[in-house]
Amino acid sequence: MRRWLIALVVLVLGRLRRRPELDSGGRIVPPGGPDRRAESLVLLLFAGATLCGAAVPVVYAWDAIPDQTQFLGLAFGLAFAFSSAACIVIGKRLVVTEELEEDYGLSHPDDREALEQLVEESGDRFTRKRLLFLAGAGAGSALGAALLTPAASLGPVFDVSSLYRTPWHRGVRLVDETGRALRAGDIEEATFYTAYPEHADREQMGAPVVVVRLKPEQLRLPDDRRGWAPAGILAYSKICTHAGCAIALYRKPTFAPVEPRPALVCPCHYSTFDVANGGGVLFGPAGRPLPQLPLAIDASGGLRAAGNFSGPVGPSWWGVRNHGARS
Ligand code: FES
Repeated sequence: MRRWLIALVVLVLGRLRRRPELDSGGRIVPPGGPDRRAESLVLLLFAGATLCGAAVPVVYAWDAIPDQTQFLGLAFGLAFAFSSAACIVIGKRLVVTEELEEDYGLSHPDDREALEQLVEESGDRFTRKRLLFLAGAGAGSALGAALLTPAASLGPVFDVSSLYRTPWHRGVRLVDETGRALRAGDIEEATFYTAYPEHADREQMGAPVVVVRLKPEQLRLPDDRRGWAPAGILAYSKICTHAGCAIALYRKPTFAPVEPRPALVCPCHYSTFDVANGGGVLFGPAGRPLPQLPLAIDASGGLRAAGNFSGPVGPSWWGVRNHGARS
């Protein structure tokens, strides 16, 4: 008990000794003269930051803007540049400063407290404090909104049904980049073709497919996919099931000793999919097979979808295996 009392007395005495030193007037920085021009400049800079920050979600949502990515970068950059410039002007022109030869010595908690008191009680040069505060809050909010905007690209949160939807269904014709209908006779072995659903939006993730041809005896499709590859022609989603890159390589011809089977390869991280057995993963980080599109050949020799994909298209997400692809 005695020790506690002594410690308390020492603490109180220490505080009493510090306060007079701080309050004596020597350490408190006196207010400076007003600087209306600097304040106006800060208001202007905060307004610029607010405008640019607010422009980010607008540009993000407005797909029709040409060079959208560049404008997004510009809006972000300017919002940060304006905010930084405003802070610099405040620091240099509107906050009074004190220069000391000796160290502030912030090792002791009491010293820190004293410094906080010094900052709180020191004068400043603001004449429109509330207006500047509001402008700063506006710029901060706009910047916050800009920073949160890209999170919208992570995809839908509550209703994920759109992720399962594709433009394919039975009877849809396969066309090439120019819109010309693909015919079974056009498809050669040892190469691959990119095809789209006729009259559909090609920007949709489920739209593009790769078409390849194998000898019918090379096929190793699961039993429930018999008839999905008429004349040995197979179609798979062009979107990699790892992170969504476009499948752009076809491993054919193969080097038999180490690569005996033809495969579709994603150039991003080299996920390799077995075309003969339904798009199974042979190599790489993809966690599920490439969705296969069942095909049919119509009376005129044209290639058509015979249904929808064997599974959801695109990179994987939480619960991707819970549903199949929908038209
Ligand atoms: S996106 Fe295809 S392997 Fe990573």
